[in-house]
Amino acid sequence: WKRVVSGVQPTGMVHLGNYLGAIKNWVALQDLYETFFFIVDLHAITLPYDAPELSKATRSTAAIYLACGIDSSKASIFVQSHVRAHVELMWLLSSSTPIGWLNRMIQFKEKSRKAGDENVGVALLTYPVLMASDILLYQSDLVPVGEDQTQHLELTREIAERLNNLYGGRKWKKLGGRGGFLFKVPEALIPPAGARVMSLTDGLSKMSKSAPSDQSRINLLDPKDVIVNKIKRCKTDSFPGLEFDNPERPECRNLLSIYQIITGKTKEEVVSECQYMNWGTFKTTLADALIEHLQPIQARYEEIMSDPGYLDNVLSEGAGKASEIADITLNNVYQAMGFLRR
Ligand code: TYM
Repeated sequence: WKRVVSGVQPTGMVHLGNYLGAIKNWVALQDLYETFFFIVDLHAITLPYDAPELSKATRSTAAIYLACGIDSSKASIFVQSHVRAHVELMWLLSSSTPIGWLNRMIQFKEKSRKAGDENVGVALLTYPVLMASDILLYQSDLVPVGEDQTQHLELTREIAERLNNLYGGRKWKKLGGRGGFLFKVPEALIPPAGARVMSLTDGLSKMSKSAPSDQSRINLLDPKDVIVNKIKRCKTDSFPGLEFDNPERPECRNLLSIYQIITGKTKEEVVSECQYMNWGTFKTTLADALIEHLQPIQARYEEIMSDPGYLDNVLSEGAGKASEIADITLNNVYQAMGFLRR
């Protein structure tokens, strides 16, 4: 069995980018692989945040996983901070991760530039080491993420290789023959479509939780009228007809792509359906499709949130299963790095 891991931060609302770039693709993987999907609450504190909101957002994100079709009888669903090995391994990895590698990270550069040096905690710099720990603990083969995470995945591979070279000299039987190395070197799994969903108000920047205007994104839990309104007001252009591949029309490409993925149609089908549409007609078509796709997810979400005991059970069972595997890796790494064991 190949292993798959991935996670979303419980900051702000889960949006269409998180869904199309990541969560939606996890659903198919749980039938093919051994899967671990977590809510990365420890990553969510790397920028200033509202403490009372964190646990709520964590529960809500877990409920969204389930509502989107992640099945707790197939996948382990858990909260990152419930499995202590994540933080422990991060410390061990950080001893061999050059600061220069972290300084190069685009997301660190962008986020720290926005916040200003005095407001940036050290954890923002070491964030990708925690992410590497999330992945390497499970000896993962594949990590399904959106395109913005490729650099972090590349760093994870470099960290794994570096520690394998430094400390992985002997065979690690307990890892179940997973390559015979200390760490399996994982690969990113980027979806062919939806890997980079763009903002509704600017087709050149990515849809993001941190963009100041909520008009720039569709949140998975947006009510019907909000979706209609956001689509009605989203940025368009004054070219005739609609097309995917005109570089001067990034908004057009983005909205058509969203429509394509959400309806499950092929690109050709979307072209023949929409090429002669005007924006007004297409916007109604797109808003209807989004509502139709999201409505069942929202209904399941409400159901799950109305039964807190159920969610608690899912998360506690998930953390139990994850800890068993994570502890094996962690103990091997302690041993490999020369620590005196209890
Ligand atoms: P986060 O919470 O920013 O995003 C969660 C997932 O959504 C994808 N994504 C997008 N995909 C397409 N278009 C967009 N506009 C868009 N915005 C976000 C992200 O690529 C991601 O897959 N560091 C990670 C969380 C993390 C993680 C991990 C992921 C922590 N540890 C271990 C995988 C494995 C993050 O901040 O994702």
